[in-house]
Amino acid sequence: MRITGTGHASMRIDTGAGSILTDPWVNPAYFASWFPFPDNSHLDWESLGDTDYLYVSHLHRDHFDAAHLSRFVNKRATVLLPEYPTSELEDELRELGFTRFLKTVSGEVHELDGGLKIMIQALTSPTDGPIGDSSLWVEYEGVRLLNQNDARPTDLTPFAELGHVHAHMLQFSGAIWYPMVYELPENAKTAFGKQKRERQFDRTWRYINDLNASWVFPIAGPPCFLDDELWQFNDIAGSAGQDHSGDEGNIFPDQSVFMREYAKVGGTNGVVLLPGTVADLSADGCAASHPVADVDAFFANKEPYLREYQARQRPVIEAAKLSWRHPEVDVLKEMKRRIEPLLDESIYLAKGVGGPVRLDLVGYDGESIESIVVDFPEKQVRPYADERVRYRFRTDRSLVEHLLHIEEVDWVNSLFLSCRFSAARIGQYNEFVYAFFKCLSEERLQYAEGWYDEHERHTEAEDITVGDWVLQRRCPHLKADLTRFGIIDDDTLTCQLHGWRFDLATGKCLTGVGHSIRSRPAGEPETS
Ligand code: FES
Repeated sequence: MRITGTGHASMRIDTGAGSILTDPWVNPAYFASWFPFPDNSHLDWESLGDTDYLYVSHLHRDHFDAAHLSRFVNKRATVLLPEYPTSELEDELRELGFTRFLKTVSGEVHELDGGLKIMIQALTSPTDGPIGDSSLWVEYEGVRLLNQNDARPTDLTPFAELGHVHAHMLQFSGAIWYPMVYELPENAKTAFGKQKRERQFDRTWRYINDLNASWVFPIAGPPCFLDDELWQFNDIAGSAGQDHSGDEGNIFPDQSVFMREYAKVGGTNGVVLLPGTVADLSADGCAASHPVADVDAFFANKEPYLREYQARQRPVIEAAKLSWRHPEVDVLKEMKRRIEPLLDESIYLAKGVGGPVRLDLVGYDGESIESIVVDFPEKQVRPYADERVRYRFRTDRSLVEHLLHIEEVDWVNSLFLSCRFSAARIGQYNEFVYAFFKCLSEERLQYAEGWYDEHERHTEAEDITVGDWVLQRRCPHLKADLTRFGIIDDDTLTCQLHGWRFDLATGKCLTGVGHSIRSRPAGEPETS
């Protein structure tokens, strides 16, 4: 089996029974804020795109690049489609001209022509990607790989049970806006970023240990940020050969940092997959050749590399910025029209948010501000009335005009991932705020409401004992098995899957609202 790195989460898998191209991403995503790192635009996409199978793991724009798919990927390719609750991914691919689909069943092995086997595990909670994220398992002639991608399965057992995995590809770096966009003192931001960076690595080690594959490929990030306004998000100080001390709160460590940190926990089987790296994988070994003579030297020269990349992409960023303004859009009126009917229908999300959310829109002059409130309890969109709000977001008016103009249904997969905003909040992180803003369509809202309804009614009866505590086995957040992901320190439980923390004495969640845990000291009787 041959694996060719094609950038970020993308790779081409060649076997004697056909080729699979996964998640090709080349054009900037999220309001021209994310670019693939390293640059992959120079690859021979004409031939890479001439593939037998296409796998797009989910609709996040750094995995689904419509312009690139449209131009370069063979429309006769059979799409290996994850089993998602909505048809959006299939619809978007059909619109690009793909007509052949293999609709997989989540967790079921499918045998393709020539003895190629695949299995796709689809994760479908409202917090998984844009309502759905997935991983791809492939087997050919006894060689197996798991492209876990940026999905966060609670358990890798379904893959491990199919036989020893030879190559495990997974995300290790950040892909979110926290904590950088929050209006916090710099030292607090650094401390939160450092915590987040450590948690990301802890989770990665956990997955790696659970699967115990022969080879581990760090993929799916980080992106790079080439707009001057976002340049500070690049982890330059942390790269190979650099002084790490200046940027320890950066949540976007690159592959060289992964290799260094992995070595610290005893990892010796990491393989960096640069765009153009070719890895020949067998049951006995993995021989990789890279497009650069010295991988460490490549990362050590990250800053000049990014500056050159930035110079090449500057016209692209400038052109994108010019396309966002739509002065004809009356933002308040349009938001009322689109959002109020959804608020009316929302029970769980509206209750979960539980307060008003304020949006400060900065005008074209860079100074004037229009403040709009999405009032979840009153189910209204209206001008801000000098009240206390749960969340406040501040962004350029032009970005919201653009979202309304293109009728974007997922503001997470556009505005929030762009990091082109700042935020402040009272109290803990509230996942319902972001879940609502990714469900701005009837179909998505209904799905998310149904999911939370089911989740709420589904009480997990099983308890486990960890150290001095008896607690429910499944994490109240997204049901991770706490016998595997739970760590107790000083009567505080941390679930390593997403890093949520719980005070075991009170059961209170210290990370997000609405998710308490059932817990009691071991030896104390259960109370009802
Ligand atoms: S499942 Fe998300 S923190 Fe436990």
